[in-house]
Amino acid sequence: MALRIVVVLAVLTGVTGSPNATMRPEAASSDMTANPNSVPETVEETHAFGQKEEEKEAEEEVMATGELNPNHYPAQRAAKVVQHYLNSRHGSPHRLFKVHRVHRAFAEDVPDTGRKYHLDVSIQEIMSNVTEKCSAEVLFPGGEQQGSARIQASCEELLKINSTTQDQAFYQQYKNNQTLVTAQYLPDSYGHVSPCMEPLRTLGIVASSVVMLNQSSENTLYNMVQVANLTQLSTENDQLKFHYHVLLHDMVSQEIINWKLLFTWSPAEGVKVEQMEQLPHCHSCEKPPNTN
Ligand SMILES: *[C@@H]1O[C@H](CO)[C@@H](O)[C@H](O)[C@H]1NC(C)=O
Ligand SMILES: *[C@@H]1O[C@H](CO)[C@@H](O)[C@H](O)[C@H]1NC(C)=O
Ligand SMILES: *[C@@H]1O[C@H](CO)[C@@H](O)[C@H](O)[C@H]1NC(C)=O
Ligand SMILES: *[C@@H]1O[C@H](CO)[C@@H](O)[C@H](O)[C@H]1NC(C)=O
Ligand SMILES: *[C@@H]1O[C@H](CO)[C@@H](O)[C@H](O)[C@H]1NC(C)=O
Ligand SMILES: *[C@@H]1O[C@H](CO)[C@@H](O)[C@H](O)[C@H]1NC(C)=O
Repeated sequence: MALRIVVVLAVLTGVTGSPNATMRPEAASSDMTANPNSVPETVEETHAFGQKEEEKEAEEEVMATGELNPNHYPAQRAAKVVQHYLNSRHGSPHRLFKVHRVHRAFAEDVPDTGRKYHLDVSIQEIMSNVTEKCSAEVLFPGGEQQGSARIQASCEELLKINSTTQDQAFYQQYKNNQTLVTAQYLPDSYGHVSPCMEPLRTLGIVASSVVMLNQSSENTLYNMVQVANLTQLSTENDQLKFHYHVLLHDMVSQEIINWKLLFTWSPAEGVKVEQMEQLPHCHSCEKPPNTN
């Protein structure tokens, strides 16, 4: 456990450079805007600093119903699921969404179905720095019901953001190259990602969003911490194909979880995850990278 937190902190301090970063979403997003190329997902890992207090809050408020404090965990967790949903559906190597702020949150029990959150939430597209206030509903199945959260979100302006030109260039670059790309540690232990690797890291966040959406419940708050490594595979069709190892962090349990993903991407089809597998905990593979 101690080791796992070290990974997060190592990644973190490199990213924010601020030992006393706070957990307010505003704080996270101002870090972002000051630093558009910085790690969007790990900025929020600053939660690790206030771990104890937040865990307590998380437990107490799990079943809160009615009007919720938009800055507290239950509202933030539901909003995060909307982020994963938008990224898994509409993300690309040059289009990535992030919760900027939760304005209003209301939770209700839906008999025989589960719990439904109604949210007013500002979502930011990171590359274009466009922010839109969207309304969304997140239904977490409960009782006999099984399966992932069901989400509805209306963010029309954000979906008009057009990354076609950059995505096409990325596609051509990796489709036509004789050499299949490989990479590791995006970001490295100093929080650094070289600009040419940034789209591959973003694509890793988008693919991870499919997993995070699938795994999310009312009691989780997932972020992708790092692409441990990636390998491009050759294809006979018009898709790009990749094998990624990613580290996901659940802020509620404080666990770092290792996932192996096999997915395809093309500008037309977006991300399609073919296989996803959670790897068993392995302390030796969770050591901070680049620290031999
Ligand atoms: C850290 O906290 C101090 C005192 O609360 C504050 O003056 C300073 O601006 C903070 N630094 C950052 C980077 O947030
Ligand atoms: C992003 O947009 C906000 C508000 O429109 C602005 O204050 C901020 O400076 C912008 N950030 C960047 C990096 O352009
Ligand atoms: C997650 O995905 C797997 C494989 O696609 C699926 O079998 C499973 O039902 C999903 N889990 C949830 C909670 O939806
Ligand atoms: C995006 O822009 C490209 C040209 O830059 C254009 O061909 C395409 O139709 C646009 N797509 C959308 C959805 O607006
Ligand atoms: C092809 O891949 C190699 C190695 O990854 C890289 O150095 C080169 O710039 C790539 N070529 C193009 C056209 O992207
Ligand atoms: C990729 O990362 C995973 C998880 O850290 C590790 O188990 C695996 O050995 C790595 N693979 C390569 C080729 O480095």
